[in-house]
Amino acid sequence: MDLFAQTQKYHQAGDFEQALAGYQALLADDLDNPQFSYLLALLFFEKGRRDEAAHWFTRVVTLAPEAAPAHYNLGIIFFEQGDYPKAAQAYEEAAKLCPEDADIFFNLALTRKKLGQFDKAFSCYQKVLALTPDAEDVLYNLGVLCKDLHHHADSIWFFEKVVKNNPDHTQALNNLGYLYHMEREVDKAIATYQKLITLDYNATMAGHMLAALTGQTTATAPEGYIRTVFDSFSEHYEESLVDKLGYTVPAQLRAMLTGKNSHRFPTTLDMGCGTGLSGEAFQDLTEKLIGLDLSPKMLEVAGKKGLYDSLHETDICSFLRENKASFDLILAADVFIYIGDLSEIFTLVKKRAAVGGLFLFSTELAAQDFCLKPMGRYGHAEYYIRGLAQESGFSVLKVTAASIRKEKEEWIAGNLYLLRA
Ligand SMILES: C[S@@+](CC[C@H](N)C(=O)[O-])C[C@H]1O[C@@H](n2cnc3c(N)ncnc32)[C@H](O)[C@@H]1O
Repeated sequence: MDLFAQTQKYHQAGDFEQALAGYQALLADDLDNPQFSYLLALLFFEKGRRDEAAHWFTRVVTLAPEAAPAHYNLGIIFFEQGDYPKAAQAYEEAAKLCPEDADIFFNLALTRKKLGQFDKAFSCYQKVLALTPDAEDVLYNLGVLCKDLHHHADSIWFFEKVVKNNPDHTQALNNLGYLYHMEREVDKAIATYQKLITLDYNATMAGHMLAALTGQTTATAPEGYIRTVFDSFSEHYEESLVDKLGYTVPAQLRAMLTGKNSHRFPTTLDMGCGTGLSGEAFQDLTEKLIGLDLSPKMLEVAGKKGLYDSLHETDICSFLRENKASFDLILAADVFIYIGDLSEIFTLVKKRAAVGGLFLFSTELAAQDFCLKPMGRYGHAEYYIRGLAQESGFSVLKVTAASIRKEKEEWIAGNLYLLRA
């Protein structure tokens, strides 16, 4: 058997060392042979040695620019390495050589999306769909792409096609539940959440939303739901809430302290601190700033700002029960929209508040004590908050009507409260 045949045998048998030695010997005799370079590149690629694989695939495309698989594999390597411009270029070359290869266009679409080139990603997926009609992963990815672009009607169309062919496609159903809900297609949203519960997929979220849409008021949103929502939202939270939805509650809460600005609080507790927007608004008013939140990803963003003396991944009640320190200012900006029954929190906050300590927070409005509203957030009536304040030993210093954030271009009405222990 000649050396080439023997080396290929080693390669196929998974004998890396022998195959490597064989290809190196072959290349020593014939350095410009693109086939030997390609096979050596493939050997490194399969072994996970991506840099060496990239080197040899690059050599192949230099020697033989028509070698589509080498361009394609370079695309895979650059994508894995996060070098999306080079990955796009490599896939483009492969696509020129193989215009009927759906895999190339699929990967090119993923790369274009990473580059933020959504229109180009969309055309690539369309191309794949033309080559492989009804391909589930393409329809699904097109749904996700349209959802990211807030083209809800198109997104629903693609996800519905996925579900038509595969009624138990949990991720498509999960997206459909959200989209129907956002688009106020209540019956469809309810049916989809019910189906998710039956399939036991994201059932905590589905159960919470089902309660919200069917007018049942629960005591609080489930912890798992809060964590999932905010973990997935953390990267875009500020851009989406502040830039798009006009959220300024931390600054509005701070303005409630007008006249007290010269006073610096020894210790402030920011409950449900999220990415630290309240920390930014109150940092110059406090000596020591402690933050807590259920979502580790939100805390990660807050931590990077370097504003907090300590951050705690916990829920509000557990922290207040277990921590014996006292606080001079206690904040909860846009957090009680995830907690209906606030009686325990008020009792615990009172225990942890220093004498004369301030409790500053926002709520959305409700007509009764508290209610879970159709979009899955809680509102609280002013009389309910005043009642809790009185029962737990706070005096109400100020209540101000506020615009909390926009929803479908309408302002959500709320109240800001300043209480003193
Ligand atoms: C809308 S964000 C507000 C974040 C921040 N306060 C701000 O003004 O940007 C609500 C935050 O409250 C947190 N949260 C909700 N319920 C909580 C609970 N029971 N315990 C701790 N954190 C909670 C969420 O994880 C989320 O980060």
